[in-house]
Amino acid sequence: MPKIFIQKPIVDINGDEMARVLWDKIKEDLILPYLDLKLIEYDLSIINRDKTNDMVTKEAGESIKKNFVGVKCATITPDDKRVKEYSLKKKYPSPNGTIRNILKGTIFREPIIIKRIPKIVNHWNAPVVIARHAFGDIYKSKEIFTKKKSRLVLYSENDKGRHDEIEIHKFESDGVGLAYFNEFDSIRDFAISCFNFALKRNFPLYLSTKNTILQKYDEAFKNIFDDEFNKNFKNQFEKQKLNYQHRLIDDMVACMMKWSGGFVWACKNYDGDVMSDLVAQGFGSLGLMSSVLQSPDGKILKTEAAHGTITSHFRQHQKKIETSTNPIASIFAWTRALSHRAFLDSNRKLSEFSEKIEKICISILNSGQMTKDLALMCGPDQSWVTTNELFKIIKSKIIN
Ligand SMILES: NC(=O)c1ccc[n+]([C@@H]2O[C@H](COP(=O)([O-])OP(=O)(O)OC[C@H]3O[C@@H](n4cnc5c(N)ncnc54)[C@H](O)[C@@H]3O)[C@@H](O)[C@H]2O)c1
Repeated sequence: MPKIFIQKPIVDINGDEMARVLWDKIKEDLILPYLDLKLIEYDLSIINRDKTNDMVTKEAGESIKKNFVGVKCATITPDDKRVKEYSLKKKYPSPNGTIRNILKGTIFREPIIIKRIPKIVNHWNAPVVIARHAFGDIYKSKEIFTKKKSRLVLYSENDKGRHDEIEIHKFESDGVGLAYFNEFDSIRDFAISCFNFALKRNFPLYLSTKNTILQKYDEAFKNIFDDEFNKNFKNQFEKQKLNYQHRLIDDMVACMMKWSGGFVWACKNYDGDVMSDLVAQGFGSLGLMSSVLQSPDGKILKTEAAHGTITSHFRQHQKKIETSTNPIASIFAWTRALSHRAFLDSNRKLSEFSEKIEKICISILNSGQMTKDLALMCGPDQSWVTTNELFKIIKSKIIN
C-alpha cells in the first residue's frame, strides 16, 4: 500500500506510563507505515516537563495554535505522591489546563459506540456528546466565612466608584458565602464552538441552564446562545435539518435518560464536570471515550483519549507482564486528528484512511475480539486478547 502524502504537519504530544506505551505502538503499527506525515513532536512526560520547568507544555500548546491539529497522549497531573515518586521540582499544573488556556477552546467528550459492548444505559445507541464551558463559575469563585449578625454584600466597582450594591443575606448564625462570575466573551466563544461542533458532527444541540432561578446569570447564557444562533447559525442548522434548543437543566437530565443519544449537550462548567463522568459511566467504559478540544471557529483541534495514564497496567508492563489495555480511545484520538487535517487540507485519501481505521476497530470489537476491560462488560463467556494481539489483528485488517 503506497503511503498517503500529507502536506501539513500534525502536532504529536507524547505522555506518560501505559498510555505512552500505547501511543508509541499506534504510531509504529497503525500510522507511520501508511502515511507520509510530518509530526512535530513534544515530549510531555512528567520527566521532561520537570526538566524544562514545564516550558514544553506551553510550546506544545503554541504549536497546536500555529499548526491547527494536535493529538495528545494522556499525561500525569502530579499530586504529592507523584512529586515524591519522580522527585519533581514542583507540583506542575495539569498540561490539559495549560493547553486549554492557550487554545481557549471547548472540550467535547464523545463515546465510541460499539453494538456488542453492553452499556449501563442500554438504550443509548448514539453518542451523548458533552460540551463543557471550562471557564469561570465555581472554579474561579471566592469564598468567605461569615459571622453571626454580619451582612454579606455583593457589589461591583470601576474607577468611577461602586455600583449595583446588593445585600445577599443578614446572618443569624455564623455561616459561609461565595461569589463567582463569568464573562460574555467567553460564553459567546463557547456558544460558537458548540454550534460549529454540532454542525460538523451533524447532531442537534441543547444548552442547559437554571435560568428560572439565576435570572441574570444563567439567562445571559441563554441570551448569548440565542443571539449567536439567530445571527449566524440558524440557516445552516435548518439546511442540515438540525435543532437548537435551550432547556432547563432538570428537564435536560430527564431527557438524557429518556432519549437514545445522538445530540450535543452544552453544559455550564460544573454541570459539564459532573455530567461528563455520569455519561461516561452510562456508556460503560473509559477506554471508549474520546475527548476533543476545539477552538470557537472550529479550525484548531486537539484530540485525546478521555482516560488517564492507566498506572496499574504500566506497573505490570514494567514487570514485563503482558497487559490487556484498551487502545481504542487513543487510536480514535489519532483518527480524529487525521480526519481534521484531511478536512482542513481537503485530503480525501487521508479522510478515507482515518475512516477505514475507525471502521476496522469497530468491526473487530463487534466480532468479539477485545481487551479485558470490555470483555468484563460483556460477561463471563467473553474471551479477551492482549494489547499486542489486538494491535496485530488491527494491523492485519489495514493491510487487507
Ligand atoms: N487526559 C489526561 O491526560 C488524564 C486524564 C485522567 C487522568 N490522568 C492521569 O492519569 C493517571 C492515572 O489516573 P487515574 O487512575 O485516575 O485514571 P485512568 O484513566 O488512568 O484509570 C482509571 C481506571 O480505568 C481503567 N482504565 C482507564 N483506561 C483504560 C484503558 N484504556 N484500558 C483498560 N483500562 C483502563 C484503569 O485501569 C483504572 O482502573 C494520573 O496520574 C492522572 O493525573 C490524565
